[in-house]
Amino acid sequence: MDSPNFQTAAARLKKLSPLRPTLAIVLGSGFHHVLTELRVEKNISYAKIPGFPVPSVSGHAGELYFGRLGGTPVLVLSGRAHFYEGHSMERVTFAVRALAAFGIRDLLLTNAAGGINRKFHAGDFMVLTDHINFMGANPLRGAPHFVDLTRVYDARLSALLFRAGKSCNLKLQRGVYLAVSGPSYETPAEIRAFARLGADAVGMSTVPEAIVARQCGLNVAAVSCITNLAAGISKEKLSHAEVLETAERVKTLAAKLLKYFCGLYGQN
Ligand code: HPA
Repeated sequence: MDSPNFQTAAARLKKLSPLRPTLAIVLGSGFHHVLTELRVEKNISYAKIPGFPVPSVSGHAGELYFGRLGGTPVLVLSGRAHFYEGHSMERVTFAVRALAAFGIRDLLLTNAAGGINRKFHAGDFMVLTDHINFMGANPLRGAPHFVDLTRVYDARLSALLFRAGKSCNLKLQRGVYLAVSGPSYETPAEIRAFARLGADAVGMSTVPEAIVARQCGLNVAAVSCITNLAAGISKEKLSHAEVLETAERVKTLAAKLLKYFCGLYGQN
């Protein structure tokens, strides 16, 4: 197990800026454009924060920002470490523990996902109502905590996302996110099985962070950018290039959604 020095990481962040946001946002594929809307006060590379894993996937920068979005103080994490990169669950969720130690109370997780629900289109956004952990691993393993996951995704924060969607004329989908370990995409048979299990979208992140966040007592909300229709739902073959293409197409909307969300969060 990695040394649990998230307190050291939190202390490093506290030294960096006097700003004390209670909201943090983790940017997944499709959401990085929000950085153009962020009034940055300070930023630091993950490599300089003790214990932070450095992501290796293209499009995931590995930079933490102190700033204001929609006028609201916020910590923005651009890039995350994924389980499929070979990181342990401890490392994948390290940043969340550091955020909790820092004093963050509310966490917005964002990601790219494949659409399983037949009503979804590439370019839609989906607010997570619940999840199915199909990664074959649980981030709390080895430190037994029987954390209640009846309501992982906070109703108040999710309502803010829907209000933000309305404000920017964006109809948000809602649904269940199923997390796989990746990095291969799914087979059509797997997607048919996941549909029967009740999944609306499939992705390779978010769930470990959400579980640890709940263990730490953080309120969590999450939103997926449906970058593609899942395997077998569309006739097209899946590719990371398609995921990045859709993300590029809707990047302005994604940025607007997060900005409005932060604005509304700041008013509460
Ligand atoms: N499957 C898994 N993860 C994903 C997908 C997908 O189709 N699209 C974006 N992330």
